[in-house]
This record gives sequence, C-alpha cells and structure tokens, in this order.
Amino acid sequence: MAKLIPCSFVFILSSSILVMTNDGSVFSDGLSTRSRWIVDERGHRVKLACANWPSHLQPVVAEGLHKQPMDSISERIRFMGFNCVRFTWPLELMTNDTLAFHVTVTQSFQRYRLFQELDGIRRHNPSILHLPLFNAFEAVVSSMGRYGVMVILDNHKTVPGWCCGNHDPDAFFGDPEFDPNLWILGLKKMAASFRNVKNVIGMSLRNELRGPKEYPHVWYKYMQQGAEAVHASNPNVLVILSGINFDTDLSFLEHLPVHVSFKSKLVFELHWYSFSDGRGSWRSHNLNDFCAKILGKVRNNGGFLLEKGFPLFLSEFGTNQGGGDGDGNRYMNCMLGWAAEKDVDWAIWALAGDYYLRQGKRGLVETYGMLNPNWHHIHNSTFLRRISVIQPPYKGPGVSHNQHNRIFHPLTGFCVVRNSRKRRSELTLGPCGRHEPWSYNGHIGTLVMKDHRSVLCLEGDVTGGRRVKLGKKCSKIERVSASKMHLSFKTRLGSSLCLDVDSMNNVVANPCKCLSKDASCDPTSQWFKIL
Ligand SMILES: *[C@@H]1O[C@H](CO)[C@@H](O)[C@H](O)[C@H]1NC(C)=O
Ligand SMILES: *[C@@H]1O[C@H](CO)[C@@H](O)[C@H](O)[C@H]1NC(C)=O
Repeated sequence: MAKLIPCSFVFILSSSILVMTNDGSVFSDGLSTRSRWIVDERGHRVKLACANWPSHLQPVVAEGLHKQPMDSISERIRFMGFNCVRFTWPLELMTNDTLAFHVTVTQSFQRYRLFQELDGIRRHNPSILHLPLFNAFEAVVSSMGRYGVMVILDNHKTVPGWCCGNHDPDAFFGDPEFDPNLWILGLKKMAASFRNVKNVIGMSLRNELRGPKEYPHVWYKYMQQGAEAVHASNPNVLVILSGINFDTDLSFLEHLPVHVSFKSKLVFELHWYSFSDGRGSWRSHNLNDFCAKILGKVRNNGGFLLEKGFPLFLSEFGTNQGGGDGDGNRYMNCMLGWAAEKDVDWAIWALAGDYYLRQGKRGLVETYGMLNPNWHHIHNSTFLRRISVIQPPYKGPGVSHNQHNRIFHPLTGFCVVRNSRKRRSELTLGPCGRHEPWSYNGHIGTLVMKDHRSVLCLEGDVTGGRRVKLGKKCSKIERVSASKMHLSFKTRLGSSLCLDVDSMNNVVANPCKCLSKDASCDPTSQWFKIL
C-alpha cells in the first residue's frame, strides 16, 4: 500500500468458493491458469477473493497476534467470505538468516520496546513466543491452511517497515536496498520453503515497483528472471507479476509480452485506490464522466490483459471504511461496478485492524481494515456486504451458469429484487444471491422479470418519487451517462426519470442526477450495474 495515505454474515462453505479439501488434496499440483481464469486441477474456476494480511512491518510478525489467537483470525477470514490471503513479507526474512532464524518473536518485540504487544502475544499466541521469526511466519500460514485459506506470499519490500514511497531505498531494481540478485535468491528460498505447503498457491514477486528509475526494459529483465526462479523452486505456485508506478501500470505488456519458459502459471496484478487517480479528483469531477474516464485508464493500464487471456488480480484496493473519505466513497462505486462486471480476482487492503508499529506509531488503526482494532469484530458490515457481492465467481469454467441478469446497486451492495411480501409487483433492494430472473435486452431496452407464471416488465409509467413496479406496460430502459449506470426511461408526459433508491431501500423513479459535467452532486444512489 502506498505511503500516500494519511494514515453478520453467513459462513458459506460453497464448493465454488472453498475448493480445497481438508487434506488439501485438490491442490496437489496447485492452481493453474486457463485463459483469463485461475482454475483447479479439474479445470474449474477458483476465484481469488482475498484480504491483505501484513507481516512485513518492523517486528516481522503477522499483525494482530497480540489481540487474537491466529486460528481465530483465520476463522474470521473465512467467516467474512474470503477464501485467501495475500500475506506480505520483507525480503530480509529470506536473505538475512540472523533475522529469520536467530531472532525470536519475543526478541523482535523487545527490540522495538513493544512490551504491551508482547504481553498480548503471550496471552493469545503463546506457542510462537520463542519461535524464530521465520517459523512464526510458517505457523501463521499453517493456521490459514487449517481453515482452508489459500495464501499468496507477497514480497512487499526489502527491509521490514511500512511501504511505499517514491524515494524509498528499495523502490526499484538497482536501488541501494534492492539488489536484483539478492531478491532472486530470496524468492527462490521462499518458494522452496513452501514447496510442500498445499495452501500456498501463489507468490507475488514484488509489491509496487516505483521510483524515478523505473524503466520497462529493466522490468522485463528482472521480472522474467524472478518468475523463472520462483517456478524452478516451486512449480506449483502461481507466479504473480506486478506493474510499475505503484503497480498501477502494466500498459507496456500491450505490445511486448512477458517471455517465460513455463505455461499456465502466470498472473498479473494491479493496484487501484482513489488516490491512484489524483488526490481530490473523484470529488472535483462529474462522477459519471470521471468513472468512465478512469475505467478507460484501468483498461489501458492492465484491464486489457483479461482480453489477452491472462488472469488479472486486483491485489490492492480499498478505502477508509469510516465513510469520511469523499474521494474514496465515490471511487468505490465505480470500482465495484467494474470488478463485478469483469469478475476479476482480487485482494482488499486490508484485513488488519491495527498495526503493532507503523511509521513510528504504535497501535496505528487501519482505517481501511476489514476487522476492528480488536481483530474480531467486523469494522463495517455495510462495507463487507458491498464487497461480498464480488466474492463468488459468476463466470468461467465450471461455474454454474446463470442466464439471468442481476441488477447490482454498488452503493448498498444489494440487488434489485421483488418485494418479498404481499406487494410482489413492487421492487426493492435485497441480497444479490437471491437471483431474481431478470432479463435485460439492451437492443429494445426492456427489463423483464421472467417468472414461471408470467413475464413482467419494468413499468416506469410513474411520476417522480413514486415506486417503480413490474407490470404489463414495458418501459424502454436506457443506460445513460458516460458511466452507463443510470437506468433511465421516459414517462407518459415525455420527461426522463432514472431508477433510484429511497431511504427505505425501495426502488423509485426520480429525476436523473448530474448525468454529466456537474461535479457538485453524487449520483450513486442512481447507479445500477446490470450484470
Ligand atoms: C540481519 O538482521 C539482524 C537482526 O535484525 C541485523 O542486526 C543485521 O544488521 C542484519 N544484517 C544485515 C546484513 O542487514
Ligand atoms: C460504513 O461504510 C459505509 C459505506 O460503505 C458508510 O456509508 C458508512 O458511513 C460506514 N459506517 C460506519 C459506521 O463507519
């Protein structure tokens, strides 16, 4: 994650999400890629829905172990619907044997005078107190394995600490603290160390390459070497390559592909935060125009890889879950619509409730975190509901095909459904998993509910502010504005209205909000993504 940042759900053991048997047998040769999909040995899609669990800061211990037993955190990961973790590590954990094998967890916390935190570890995770740091790292991976959590080992930086700034000494290959040969050595050792650990399914080679010296030709040289090294040391893992400019840019791959000797293991990763698009930009532009513009950028910077037949792993995104980040709030709606439509693999920043020590501050709270600082309670259940819509796979090999459309409302994380009580013709918001039999025909502009008894149209013949109903009179529904997320129709008197949601989550019709140019208003209550 870039340093720029100032810094109850049902537990579904669906076979499409949890692909691992308890003994991990499904993964004996790991996952592989088939076109843009990540698949298991049966060729069935495995969608990565991960959270980032930092373990690369100064103490080099997975965060949160002073608050909860590691098994309890692993259980929470599954409880929130994630099937995987991007687990970060500093290169020194593999290139400095003193750090890895001779410094114990106790010594590491003592070194930073984190005595209260050490007490917490003694209480919640006594078994790791006297383990060397590398063995403690392994213990956390095993804990995730016990809960069926897949792990991607992410080399986050070289020296333990918070990441990332443009002028860090380990920003790009050749920087004072980024010796490419040492890095390759570290990757090899890490890959080999987890060769027989079934739940380790991927390695992400280096987080957020950046800085004044980043050149694509240097990127190819070392990323290809790193990829070969990892594959040779552990042929089971997915090899995940990140881009330049804080991993927001893989555009150079459009014209020059990566050359590696192995097949079906290569994945690319991209990061996307609101501040990647310029601070304040999401609030200072019209949201429809800006969302469309940024989606064009995301396509050019990496989205095109899906079309070229590579999996694209959105391995960092997120925002302040307290709701106070106006830029982040706007970005999230645009991002979620995109992620749902593309059905990409992803990892949210972050699982963390807080950090032992980050940027010199003890106990810094992670405002982007899924868990509270107690590492048990969910930070914001609305936020979790919104991202839970993109957890299950909707497309890809082996995913049970659903021919119906869903009408996703990114702002709430709900979908448009029929009123469940007496007034079945009225529409409201409800869980996206309910799979209402919607069918959208973009050519003629009809939005139809194909019931087993009847075919009903969205009937927009209402005046502003009134509820939208299902009926016999079909309104022509158009996707308007640059974002294409407004669903608009004409009333009998010829005026245009847009679908909207009132404070009770009823679906209503209202005058369309700031379709273009106007930056002052937030149209997202009227944003629906037809999936
Ligand atoms: C290796 O790690 C130890 C313990 O953190 C540290 O004291 C030492 O300076 C490191 N060595 C190098 C070469 O960075
Ligand atoms: C939770 O997140 C939603 C948006 O995802 C936001 O509107 C709300 O204010 C947040 N709630 C709290 C209590 O922070």
